[in-house]
Amino acid sequence: MAQNSVQKDNVQIAPASGKLGVLIPGLGAVSTTFIAGVEAVKRGLALPVGSLTQLSTIRLGKRTDNRSPMIKDFVPLAKLEDLVFGGWDIFEDTAYESALNAGVLEKTQLAELKEPLTAIRPMKAVFDQEYVKRINGPNVKKAANNMEKAQMLIEDIERFRKENNCARLVMVWCGSTEVFHRPAPCHQNLAAFEAGLLNNDPEIAPSQIYAYAALMCGVPYANGAPNLTTDTPALLDLARDRHMPVCGKDFKTGQTFMKTLIAPGLKARMLGIAGWYSTNILGNRDGEVLEDPGSFKSKEETKLSVLDQILQPTLYPDLYKDLHHVVRINYYKPRGDQKEGWDNIDIFGWLGYPMQIKVNFLCRDSILAAPIVLDLALLMDLAQRTGMRGIQEWLSFYFKAPMHAPGLYPEHDIFIQLMKLKNTLRWMRGEDLITHLGLEYYD
Ligand SMILES: NC(=O)c1ccc[n+]([C@@H]2O[C@H](COP(=O)([O-])OP(=O)(O)OC[C@H]3O[C@@H](n4cnc5c(N)ncnc54)[C@H](O)[C@@H]3O)[C@@H](O)[C@H]2O)c1
Repeated sequence: MAQNSVQKDNVQIAPASGKLGVLIPGLGAVSTTFIAGVEAVKRGLALPVGSLTQLSTIRLGKRTDNRSPMIKDFVPLAKLEDLVFGGWDIFEDTAYESALNAGVLEKTQLAELKEPLTAIRPMKAVFDQEYVKRINGPNVKKAANNMEKAQMLIEDIERFRKENNCARLVMVWCGSTEVFHRPAPCHQNLAAFEAGLLNNDPEIAPSQIYAYAALMCGVPYANGAPNLTTDTPALLDLARDRHMPVCGKDFKTGQTFMKTLIAPGLKARMLGIAGWYSTNILGNRDGEVLEDPGSFKSKEETKLSVLDQILQPTLYPDLYKDLHHVVRINYYKPRGDQKEGWDNIDIFGWLGYPMQIKVNFLCRDSILAAPIVLDLALLMDLAQRTGMRGIQEWLSFYFKAPMHAPGLYPEHDIFIQLMKLKNTLRWMRGEDLITHLGLEYYD
């Protein structure tokens, strides 16, 4: 921290000492790109580009104070050297084999990281094909009911903690997108949920069994997919009772990331939007899973909600009431992880004259998602050490469909999200929040 800063210790934050275990359901493209990346950064082979916790500074005090420490020096975060990784998957491939299959990182780069990646063997998954139709694999737990499976996950978590000598753990869901479900009676409170686990209620998704096990073990849970998971009273009550932070849903990368950059800009200038057509091609396993209409519906819900929330058509009916928003995802094998997205945006300006914007984003999905996994693991661990529990709305910055308290609308504008995130860090350290009023410079 800058020399002239006065530590006001607004909030007590437990130190980040010891090892932090990052537990990941789903050892696929995103998670192996994340793990390989951290191992590469630890060895000085690459830079953690895209990670706020590793590269961003935070301004403190007045603009004339010249105090802009790195976020990682300002708040006590776990160090990359202290991270250890574990995970579950329905396939038996090690993280090295899975990364080779995913084809995101180059073989020569993976060869340099073969040793740590080969050491990560997926634990047996809790899986139900009703929730992910397009894939099936042999590495799954068998038990009489879902409560027994939850207990098996709890044993996995505690074994991992002990074997790796972890001081703390976090869980980040990087598994496939599950079929769209709304909260059901078994989600209304914890007793109903536990009864549902015992009698194999079909409304309980595998991701919810992982989240339940994590929270029962005192492990914060972040949801990288659009799955319902902790967006239910039962699991939110559990998180609050156990003083555990949760956050989600669906990593904000690629096309939705672009949307949350462009839409607030157009709205800021009071330009109208008549239509926004988004289409994608991608050929990885995620794309294959999303070919199933049930899984696509989960994705579509999170992708579609973004524009409505940013543009507020009820406040600005003349500009956005009739907006025609379409989102398509097409599985196209040759592309692998190298997705291509096209956006056609029909906008209108002064006196209603029409204009068009075309965006052609040739992105690498997992390259954009990996630093988000890192930041979420570190910031959820920080939240827990800070005593924050329940929904972590300040982490909306990372999600397509940010979880929020009932009665609130989610904040999608990425610049407001960033301000909220940084102000939360300032609040943790007793620094003045930055309002951007700035009248004092002109007194
Ligand atoms: N890549 C991105 O930019 C991005 C952005 C937003 C969200 N996501 C979401 O992140 C998730 C991971 O994406 P990916 O590209 O790595 O997909 P992937 O298909 O490569 O990996 C997912 C892995 O999860 C495994 N899996 C499925 N169900 C499981 C279960 N119940 N338990 C354990 N493992 C299970 C699959 O076998 C697979 O290996 C997907 O839900 C995706 O929609 C990705």
